[in-house]
Amino acid sequence: MKKRDIILLVGAAIIIGVLWMAPEESTKRVPKDEIHSRFYDIVKNDGKKAAEKFCEDCHNPNDVPLPADHPAKFRCLFCHKVIE
Ligand code: HEC
Ligand code: HEC
Repeated sequence: MKKRDIILLVGAAIIIGVLWMAPEESTKRVPKDEIHSRFYDIVKNDGKKAAEKFCEDCHNPNDVPLPADHPAKFRCLFCHKVIE
């Protein structure tokens, strides 16, 4: 392999790595507290879609509102990770 090819490969790996990390680094996880820990079980047993049905019971404008600049709010768990 030529030296130039190696540099290209390393560069590509870094770019992919940065893109891969970015959402997880920047978006808050679903906290594993007494409120949210049951969703960890629902995700594990029935998947993300089943768990997301409950989010808006509380995260709605009257109870625990999302920040005013919150992005599109469908599929909560695509952005807010549930990680042990
Ligand atoms: C029973 C009410 C309730 C439900 C249901 C609920 N939440 Fe929450 N959530 C809260 C409250 C209260 C807070 C603020 C206090 C806290 O962090 O626990 C909060 C905070 C958060 C935060 C911010 C944590 C932080 O670090 O500031 C995220 C993200 C979140 N919830 C995501 C979700 C998602 C995703 C779901 C659905 C899977 C969900 N919540 C379901 C009540 C709820
Ligand atoms: C497209 C990605 C995306 C989706 C989908 C999404 N969020 Fe968010 N959410 C964000 C970002 C980005 C922020 C602000 C920065 C942060 O929390 O790290 C945020 C912030 C929040 C916060 C406030 C956290 C704090 O700072 O206290 C809560 C609560 C929350 N989201 C809940 C939800 C719920 C519930 C849903 C589904 C109804 C949802 N989010 C869907 C990206 C997303």
